[in-house]
Amino acid sequence: MIVLREAAAADATALARLHARSWRGFYRGMMSDAWLDGDIDAERGAFWSNALASPVPGQAVIVAEAQGELAGFVHLHANHDAAWGSYVHALHVAATFQGRGIGARLMDAVGEWCERHGTRGGVWLWVLEPNAPARAFYERIGARNVERDVWEAPDGGRVPKFRYAWPSPQALRAGAGQAARTER
Ligand SMILES: CC(C)(COP(=O)(O)OP(=O)(O)OC[C@H]1O[C@@H](n2cnc3c(N)ncnc32)[C@H](O)[C@@H]1OP(=O)(O)O)[C@@H](O)C(=O)NCCC(=O)NCCS
Repeated sequence: MIVLREAAAADATALARLHARSWRGFYRGMMSDAWLDGDIDAERGAFWSNALASPVPGQAVIVAEAQGELAGFVHLHANHDAAWGSYVHALHVAATFQGRGIGARLMDAVGEWCERHGTRGGVWLWVLEPNAPARAFYERIGARNVERDVWEAPDGGRVPKFRYAWPSPQALRAGAGQAARTER
């Protein structure tokens, strides 16, 4: 059974491990091998320790857990952009848990969080152009590809990226909720 809850400071290590593993597994070819095979565990460890110990206003981190094991997470910055609304900074589902509706449930939880907190505007994120599986996932849950830009990656590379957006938390929930309802 998958349980969703807001993250606590004690989740930092597991979040860092899943985040680094997911980058290594799914960003290969989009970022340099040297960077992916470097000490990104430590870099992500510092990121998550800091993010959970000193959260910026409007931050939400929602985790999906299966029998105490971290199966996925989503990181949100509410009201981040005057035009586009609340920004989903990261979404990752562990490889062994993918395809079971967890990504859709996490995105539905983002919509629910935004509704509960009365955020302004829509919900949006950046997805790398070569990340075809993630783009298909976001399109399946109703996102619209609204803009192309370039990501200045931390390894020094430049990767094309798209802004995907929903006009409101309700629109996000309409798309994600439908996919999340399927028990797998
Ligand atoms: C993208 C990601 C978050 C999707 O999570 P997931 O839990 O595997 O997806 P779900 O099982 O919730 O899928 C929900 C719907 O999207 C569809 N979908 C998911 N991945 C898909 C793909 N690669 N191609 C087409 N459809 C896809 C599912 O079929 C499902 O639709 P259905 O109900 O009609 O069957 C996950 O694969 C992941 O963590 N990828 C690696 C990290 C990453 O790229 N993150 C995004 C960075 S922007």
